[in-house]
Amino acid sequence: TLTQAEKAAVVAIWGKVASQADAIGAESLERLFSSFPQTKTYFPHFDLSHGSVQLRGHGSKVLGAIGEAVKNIDDIGGALAKLSELHAYILRVDPVNFKLLSHCILCSVAAHYPSDFTPEVHAAWDKFLSQISSVLTEKYR
Ligand code: HEM
Repeated sequence: TLTQAEKAAVVAIWGKVASQADAIGAESLERLFSSFPQTKTYFPHFDLSHGSVQLRGHGSKVLGAIGEAVKNIDDIGGALAKLSELHAYILRVDPVNFKLLSHCILCSVAAHYPSDFTPEVHAAWDKFLSQISSVLTEKYR
């Protein structure tokens, strides 16, 4: 679990990310699909070209869920319970892909806020994203 200092670091950087959440969400997905093209197989029904309406809409949803997790940082499992069922039972996303998306979100946040992205913030945000991934993949077991 996150220490108090790590929670504070996540909340602080989220204060900035939230204002650009849609752009950061779309950029994270674009990084995911271009660096790890196999992830595109989950989105055969999407137009994945740069700046597409679907890319932006989905990026906004993903970052919206992360915002919910920030708001409920002491109960991420409860906050994302429905999404956990969706990804496990309906979408059946292979858990390895969560590491790839987390990495791309991390890169996007770093690219947008380079001076805020200290080693401490990096580590805290990485741990936070891996907690979200654990919640979204725990139903598989
Ligand atoms: C749908 C969040 C990881 C594939 C969604 C939705 C959200 C979400 C909020 C929309 C749910 C709804 O419409 O009710 C997240 C978060 C993730 C994550 C927070 C991890 C940080 C992944 C990964 C993949 C994936 C790694 C596959 C590579 C999908 C697909 C949909 C979806 C295929 C349905 C898209 C559609 O047809 O509209 N996700 N997701 N997700 N997610 Fe994820």
